[in-house]
Amino acid sequence: MKGKTVYIKTFGCQMNEHDSERMLGILYSMGFNEVDEPKKADIIIFNTCAIREKAEQKFMSSLGRIKHLKRRKPELKIIVAGCSAKLQGERLVNKAPFIDYIIGPDNISILGKIIENNSEEKIFIDENSEIAYFDFPTLRKDNVKAWVNIIYGCNNYCAYCVVPFTRGRERSRPFEKIYNEIKRLGEEGFKEVTLLGQNVNSYQHENIDFPLLLEKISEIEGIERIRFVTSHPKDLSEKLIYVMKNNPKVCEHIHLPLQAGSDRILKLMNRKYSYEEYMRKIQTLRDNIPDIAITSDIIVGFPQESDEDFEKTISALTEIQFDGIFAFKFSARPGTAASKLEGKINEDIKAKRLMEVLKLQDNITESKNKKLEDTIQEILIEGENEEGFTFGRTRTNKIVKLTSHFPSGKIIKVKIKKANRHSLEGIVI
Ligand code: 5AD
Ligand code: SF4
Repeated sequence: MKGKTVYIKTFGCQMNEHDSERMLGILYSMGFNEVDEPKKADIIIFNTCAIREKAEQKFMSSLGRIKHLKRRKPELKIIVAGCSAKLQGERLVNKAPFIDYIIGPDNISILGKIIENNSEEKIFIDENSEIAYFDFPTLRKDNVKAWVNIIYGCNNYCAYCVVPFTRGRERSRPFEKIYNEIKRLGEEGFKEVTLLGQNVNSYQHENIDFPLLLEKISEIEGIERIRFVTSHPKDLSEKLIYVMKNNPKVCEHIHLPLQAGSDRILKLMNRKYSYEEYMRKIQTLRDNIPDIAITSDIIVGFPQESDEDFEKTISALTEIQFDGIFAFKFSARPGTAASKLEGKINEDIKAKRLMEVLKLQDNITESKNKKLEDTIQEILIEGENEEGFTFGRTRTNKIVKLTSHFPSGKIIKVKIKKANRHSLEGIVI
């Protein structure tokens, strides 16, 4: 396959970004090169997301835009991978017969075989436990930070969420595989790893749970920082907080989706915690790790969310003072429990609630950042941004721009001179 080319477009979360690195790794090992335009490619891959309807619409319009390429170049292969591939399966091929292959998140390990054999079969979306054991020849674009999968799928069945249907049941990757991959990353000069999973806290392989996994990984030479996403509040243990507090490589940041402030809505969402229980965890985190940054996800307009319920989300945000949030309008997803609930909220109300949440949080984020002015922070240099500024991140995952140049991969101390809403400016000390 020498000289062949692939174009890949990724939608959705970090898990998907990483899956794309793995698909590219497979194709590179077969002699493919990546190109930046669909029209230059022999294979086009859309790695899709299904979390909200908007993500699926975005992918469908991208798909529409490349349809004509196939007419000009019949040997072109069009592949749809990822969560929407899994969710829509055959329906996608019926809608868009020019698609050659549909490959679910569990099946990307066989991408090489599909291409090599010019497979007649089109749809590969069955649950596949091999995913947790397969050694991917990953192609990482970054050389400072790396994503590493530790757990696949999700068993939580939050009422709104399509992930258990797209990424299947929870499966932990064997400890030795994770350790060896990170050891290699350390040898290659990577400085930071982010452990990935829908719910990293429920990692369990033989006698190794998540806190122990963190401890073991922190022994790897070269890796200076360890992060992880995402945590489910119900599984956030004291043991994990202990490791975050005491292990110098584990960074002081946690992404802990709250979703809503009202217990009635949390119950309808099947989140398995009350606001009070969530708050207690936040308090324990802050008591133990005073500088910790806490970020979160919020959904507005979940079915039956009254003004009163929504106000509880607003007061939760005010009380907790997150460092940052992602906020979304509820989107009904096929197959989920929430899609069958009565009491849908109309789009105007959702939009209004979303605006209110974002505006409030913008002010909170800015005031939290302001508190960092004149403090000393340790940052890991990641590279240069589009404006030519060298930038890095604090241990709490905040971006800091510098006026002087530093090579990426270096860890340095800076003084924060100015705080903006979405970034900090610092000088080296
Ligand atoms: N509608 C809106 N937001 C959703 N999320 C997950 N499913 C939905 C949905 N159906 C949000 C949650 C989750 C984040 C990744 O996406 O807040 O934490
Ligand atoms: Fe990621 Fe979920 Fe979107 Fe799949 S549906 S790509 S797991 S955010």
